[in-house]
Amino acid sequence: MSIMPELHTPIDVLCENLERTGQSHLARYIRGVTPASAQSTIAAQVQTIDLDELASLIRRYITEAEHEPAQGRIAPASYYALDGTAPDGFWDRAEYHARGEQLVCEGKVACFTVAGGQGSRLGFDGPKGCYPTSCVNDKSLFQLFAESIRANEIKYACLIPWYIMTSPLNHDATVQFFEEHDCFGLTREQIMFFNQGVMPSLDAETGEILMRDPVHLATNPDGHGGAFKALGVSGALTDMQTRGIEHVSYFQVDNPHARMIDPAFLGLHVFAPDSSGEFSSKMVSKASWDEKVGVFCSVDGRTEIIEYSDLDESLAKQSEPGGRLSFNAGSIALHAISVAFIDRVLHDKNAALPFHKALKKVPHFDLSTGQMVSPESNNAVKFEKFVFDGIPIADRSIVVETDRVEEFAPVKNATGTDSIESSKRLQSLRAARWLAEQGVVVPMRNDEVDATIEISPLTATCAEDLATKTLPEKIDTGSTVVL
Ligand code: UTP
Repeated sequence: MSIMPELHTPIDVLCENLERTGQSHLARYIRGVTPASAQSTIAAQVQTIDLDELASLIRRYITEAEHEPAQGRIAPASYYALDGTAPDGFWDRAEYHARGEQLVCEGKVACFTVAGGQGSRLGFDGPKGCYPTSCVNDKSLFQLFAESIRANEIKYACLIPWYIMTSPLNHDATVQFFEEHDCFGLTREQIMFFNQGVMPSLDAETGEILMRDPVHLATNPDGHGGAFKALGVSGALTDMQTRGIEHVSYFQVDNPHARMIDPAFLGLHVFAPDSSGEFSSKMVSKASWDEKVGVFCSVDGRTEIIEYSDLDESLAKQSEPGGRLSFNAGSIALHAISVAFIDRVLHDKNAALPFHKALKKVPHFDLSTGQMVSPESNNAVKFEKFVFDGIPIADRSIVVETDRVEEFAPVKNATGTDSIESSKRLQSLRAARWLAEQGVVVPMRNDEVDATIEISPLTATCAEDLATKTLPEKIDTGSTVVL
């Protein structure tokens, strides 16, 4: 008598894996769903998930919710300050500027923008980089960055490749925007768009994977820290290596003041004696002890960023004899990262970035009732990685101070703090400062510019660029000026 072997289909294997890792609800649904095409559509999405990794995240952050280990010995991080002081004496801006310029001229530097976020606070229907942002001509963030790259290419007679990380939620719209605008004067070959990964969104109580609709899992982009993996998977890292790029200037899509090519910063990043040339960062002095920015700290002797919500209030309030906050080094998400470091993070298991948990509101399709659910409060957990978790992985990471108005005009919210209005005011203020430095009379009222001034990146990417331009003698009160 012959015994028929039991049929074990790929769907069975997938469902057993789901059951083994605490996702039986989904296994049941997949087994019963019709038509067969729906089954394979869902299965294809599940196959992209590392279910064992997910199960251990769920245990750690949801079902068993371990306490995070206590932080080590925390001290303020030392930094290269605007006044010329350095962690170990003084630093010479002109020298590092020249060395950084050399790197750019040699074609060793690329720009890297993370633009995969959901931009939910801004509430704009499209990728955030397409948001009309400049204070007179409403140029999009992407246009401002593209023009800045072009201006630097002209200044340094070099090619500057631009890597833009998108997410599956905004990739096509981003690429189409560039194509519709002829890449804003850049060539299509120098821009590489690549998708970051996603993580499944989970029920906040049970850790069960949620569905967006009857055939799609609910997902979220895996955070800006997903950049390391995405650079590898997409081939962007190989592209950098092939082009001879050694360092990337990293910035977020929502900061029109990011100085994308900053020679002095790049020079320090690569050549400062206490830098391993792997991962360097810019900081600004915190506006107040409770400003919602991460703070550069030294934890057991290693530089890292502690999120504002994780920094003990007594430390956040601590001040120096002159009144300055002790923990005053606020992060504005501007970094220089070496290509060799990206490669190391990708290939060295000990250099893996951790996940962080965040709560959010996720409308979803309820598998037990077959109904859509629109929650009124946070019902889901998302897991994200943060790029700045790379800092303590670097052998020696340095922090460099920059001026807040010069480099930080974020567009995060629809109104209020860090909104388009506050960003436009800062854009005018920076333009006014640059003009005043060249002797132009600018109308001011209570520290605000009494005019609206836009300086195109093609005219100047920093104050010094204006020195060779023909400028008006004065800006009229209440006027609108584009240079
Ligand atoms: P934010 O933390 O401000 O998030 O991202 P966000 O998604 O843009 O906006 P909200 O919180 O939904 O309102 C900071 C930067 O990191 C990028 C964003 O595009 C932005 O440039 N980012 C964020 C990614 O590229 N991927 C992500 O998964 C998250």
